Amino acid sequence: MGKVIRIGLLGAGTVGTGTARVLELNQHEIAERVGTSIVVSKVLVRDPAKERHYLSQAVRTDNFDDILNDPDIDIIVELMGGLHPAKEYMLQALAAGKRVVTANKDVIAQFGHDLFDMAAAHQTEIFFEASVGGGIPIITPLKECLNANRITEIMGIVNGTTNYMLTKMAECGSDYDSVLREAQQKGYAEADPTADVGGLDAARKAVILSSIAFNSRVRLEDVSVEGITKITPDDIAYAADLGYVVKLLAVGKELADGINVRVHPVFLPKTHPLASVNGVYNAIFVHGNAIGDAMFYGQGAGSLPTASAVVADIMRAAQDICRGQLSSVGCTCYEQKPICPLEKTRSSYYVRLLVDDEPGVLAQIATAFGNAGVSLKSVIQTRQNVVDHAEIVAITHTVEHAKIQAALAAIRDLSVVDEVRNIIRVENGEDD
Ligand code: NAP
Ligand code: HSE
Repeated sequence: MGKVIRIGLLGAGTVGTGTARVLELNQHEIAERVGTSIVVSKVLVRDPAKERHYLSQAVRTDNFDDILNDPDIDIIVELMGGLHPAKEYMLQALAAGKRVVTANKDVIAQFGHDLFDMAAAHQTEIFFEASVGGGIPIITPLKECLNANRITEIMGIVNGTTNYMLTKMAECGSDYDSVLREAQQKGYAEADPTADVGGLDAARKAVILSSIAFNSRVRLEDVSVEGITKITPDDIAYAADLGYVVKLLAVGKELADGINVRVHPVFLPKTHPLASVNGVYNAIFVHGNAIGDAMFYGQGAGSLPTASAVVADIMRAAQDICRGQLSSVGCTCYEQKPICPLEKTRSSYYVRLLVDDEPGVLAQIATAFGNAGVSLKSVIQTRQNVVDHAEIVAITHTVEHAKIQAALAAIRDLSVVDEVRNIIRVENGEDD
């Protein structure tokens, strides 16, 4: 056995505690595989007096400098979350020549290039496998195992909270607020769940995945984002009637006009492999010009699944220290490709309308769609869930985003239309 590798944890919440637990649970295997043992030397928390599983009072501190300035600590593992001071702490750690491991998609999505530059300048490295897909290996596979491909599409369910909520709403008919509470209690949701349900958490992961997949820096402001807050039990029931499930997808595509990255709910055919990804499970599809389709599946959030990826990164950093090498692949954005605007993307759409229940209404709506160049695939009026009105659901053929928007503007102006209740993309394999 070589020298003991000492780590400093920043954060002892869901993932920090899980990391300490995996290091303890599998300490024998970890030591054998790395060739040395790994111990948690110090852990930064806001409140050192608070009781913590697996992390004794002796290792707790509320002063980052205790960790940064400890020459025996080789690896700093950032599991605090949020942008600040996490970003500054990681930059300081790299500047001090320490290896950094993080699960922080907020910082990687927004300031990843600063961290890579700092690591390169100080001959050290940063690992962030857990920042996307929790325990699912996807960053290393993209950077290394799929490196021989030109990747044209990456599409996935990358937020455990919303997938858990949509699954529960579909399976048990549970209401939105109660399933959100459950997801928070299970430690899946972020401290402020707005980023989960609003799609921002998935957007940050889409930024990371797309930047790596397309070798071109994608910024958060390049991503069009829509969350699940407008999804109702009625939409989920219509989806089921029509042979679909509702999922929140992160999509990155390289199109003729550039890279398009977006997060939004979709109607997925029940036969689509992503349709059966339920609960807190995540899955990421990648299409490469050599491998074809590949799918990565597993638990995308939670204490131990996320710690699985964090500890693997710690082990790789420890091996690098023991061997005196830098094995991680740094920044891979060697091109700057244009961003394709949302208006140029094409999709099929589900449109749900509340209308007056009288003759001629359907004809007016069909005309409005037709005048905007939108062709309809089907129109149904089956559910008797409204009084004195009618609810009409239309599924369109594949159409440009700009045309569906023009059709909706005209439909909203019709006096017989009371409300456009929802519009959701339908994934039929034909969009681009
Ligand atoms: P968490 O449960 O909220 O834990 C955060 C920890 O960081 C707490 O121990 C907290 O201390 C400490 N902390 C926060 N700000 C601090 C500050 N300014 N100074 C000192 N300590 C501070 O968070 P988490 O769910 O473990 O998430 C950690 C990271 O992993 C985040 O980046 C998250 O996005 C990512 N992640 C989480 C999951 C998941 O399933 N939860 C999955 C993948 C990735 P106190 O305990 O004293 O408050
Ligand atoms: N809140 C996130 C999720 C945790 O629900 O997927 C993992 O990043």
